[in-house]
Amino acid sequence: MGKFNVALDGPAGAGKSTVARMVAKELGYVYVDTGAMYRAITWKVLHKDIPLEDLSAIADMTASTRIELLPGLTGQTVLVDGQDVTERIRSKEINLHVSHIAAIPDVRERLVSMQKSMAAAKGVVMDGRDIGTSVLPDAEVKVFLTASARKRAERRYLEMNASEISLDDLERDIERRDQLDRGRKVSPLRQAEDAVLLDSTEMSLDEVVNAVLELCRTKELRG
Ligand code: DC
Repeated sequence: MGKFNVALDGPAGAGKSTVARMVAKELGYVYVDTGAMYRAITWKVLHKDIPLEDLSAIADMTASTRIELLPGLTGQTVLVDGQDVTERIRSKEINLHVSHIAAIPDVRERLVSMQKSMAAAKGVVMDGRDIGTSVLPDAEVKVFLTASARKRAERRYLEMNASEISLDDLERDIERRDQLDRGRKVSPLRQAEDAVLLDSTEMSLDEVVNAVLELCRTKELRG
């Protein structure tokens, strides 16, 4: 059986990255966190003080930026032009601006083309918002992972530095980002027609991972 690609989409905080990392490890595949790439560009916009409304400057900067995702023992290391920004791209400030950056067509075009090349050799588990619909429409396994906004906020809350933000604020932030991601013109967050819907509100992490692996096994048997 040859390698295949797994597309994992869904709203913020549904557990996509943890699930994708665990599925990739189990299959011996490469995990690609596409949200980290939009975060990396957002970090550079803020770091370079590029005005958020200067879309052409942001597009030019994106075109000349090198983003590397390096698999590590405890997670993925994110390099922007060789500089490690792994921690910095998870800040509240980045959360606030990343949906705006991810809605810029030139930014998406550039990152989507990088993502397609990363998956060209197959054997990739990629998570994001538009993987099943636009980055890898031919992915052999497609999952749309969701959970209630409250549950997603609770999970993010546990992951974060609790003093930075309250649970209610986090839930509002998650709902705000969902709306922006679902409502934008280019590649909105949407379940692909051939994706399997998994609602993880009442599921444990292991249950979700096993459900995805089961879909992969079914694929292997058929493929
Ligand atoms: O998954 P995340 O929270 O790290 O994603 C950060 C932002 O990037 C989020 O607002 C949605 C956007 N994003 C996107 O538009 N397309 C992707 N493939 C991945 C993320």
